[in-house]
Amino acid sequence: MKKPERVLLAGGRVVDPGNRRVRIWDVLIQDGRIAKVGKQLRATGAQRIDCRGKHIAPGFIDMHCHLREPGQEDAETIATGTKAALAGGFTKVCPMPNTDPPIDSEALVRFELARAKEAGFARVYPIGSCTKARAGKELAEIGSMKQAGAVAVSDDGSWVDDPQVMRRVLEYCKAFDLPVISHCELTGFPYGVANEGLVSTRLGLAAGPDVSESAAAARDILLAEFTHARLHIAHVSCAATVSLIRWAKARGVQVTAETCPHYFTLTDAALETFDTNFKVNPPLRTDKDRQAVIDGLADGTIDAIATDHAPHTKSAKEVEFDIAPAGFIGFETAFSLGYEQLVLAKKLSLADYVSRMTTAPARILGLPMPCLQPGADADLVILDLKARWTWTRDQVFSRSQNSPFFGRQLHGRVIGGFLGHKQFWFLHPA
Ligand code: DOR
Repeated sequence: MKKPERVLLAGGRVVDPGNRRVRIWDVLIQDGRIAKVGKQLRATGAQRIDCRGKHIAPGFIDMHCHLREPGQEDAETIATGTKAALAGGFTKVCPMPNTDPPIDSEALVRFELARAKEAGFARVYPIGSCTKARAGKELAEIGSMKQAGAVAVSDDGSWVDDPQVMRRVLEYCKAFDLPVISHCELTGFPYGVANEGLVSTRLGLAAGPDVSESAAAARDILLAEFTHARLHIAHVSCAATVSLIRWAKARGVQVTAETCPHYFTLTDAALETFDTNFKVNPPLRTDKDRQAVIDGLADGTIDAIATDHAPHTKSAKEVEFDIAPAGFIGFETAFSLGYEQLVLAKKLSLADYVSRMTTAPARILGLPMPCLQPGADADLVILDLKARWTWTRDQVFSRSQNSPFFGRQLHGRVIGGFLGHKQFWFLHPA
């Protein structure tokens, strides 16, 4: 019989987001699962990895990303995207359904799962669309997509404009206990451009106001209250949306929310460069909004951090600002940006920060609770929080290179980890 594989991670600081603790412990991995955790474990014959000075956390979950397959494989594939995800510490990712064709059927959910299995990098939990072809008219095959493995539905990239359709989506998903993820952006305002304000006026950029997001969020929150269904607000970018979610939670509405590293790191001042790699939807907003997003994360109004990893090819982005597609790659820089803006800035403890990328998305999506307890899958990341590094093009695993963060000094780094039986290293700890 094959000898069971055993690996001992020795002397690392183990981050337990569920119990908000960090302890110096050994972690013994056997056959792709956590076998033991504790002080000075003895494990004869096990591979020993010295983790002194490093942190060990459950693998991150990205509940909002774009892997572009099927249809836009020139920008990303499930294989290249999930490899980039692992490089960022994400062992589980949830691709949005705005592919070509959109993921609106059981067969397409199964296709994504099969491609992910073939690739063997991060685990994939598909998000199906709310409506057929994401057209906002007829409900997609929600029940059969859930049976096939979809963990939520969303027409991300567009808002479900028709209130009667959104009401039906919420009611239907309630029966399946699925969260409905809303991309809040009123139809009618200029779409997917810069934030309307001083910067857009000075630069002469086409712009949309933040009320486009907050008014859409307000309608969906009220519909969630009316239907008693579960609503999740995607990529929160402005102060008014944070206040509305806070208000809704206090009323007992079943609403959760996510934001992305760029909304707590950057403001629209970055657009002064006219670099289309800063164009994203919703757009970068003001410093007041940035601070409100941080406050929302700190008090739990915003539950989770997701990347909105949005690969686009070089040729697609090398056009004028107004016509460039919105979005940028985000897996590989997410942890470091949050570590810098939230933990080093003393807004969140390390364990609370990690919870926003592990236990919070797991709770929202009904995934197994990420933890480093005996019996759990050995999905974990090893972090060097002392690392200072600069993000450069030659380090990118994604098929696209549309990042606004090249050349930026980053703090804290994912150096490797485990995905069940597999070890992955981007920098070996030794
Ligand atoms: O910037 C964005 N890019 N926002 C979205 O909602 C969609 C995404 C994409 O698919 O490129």
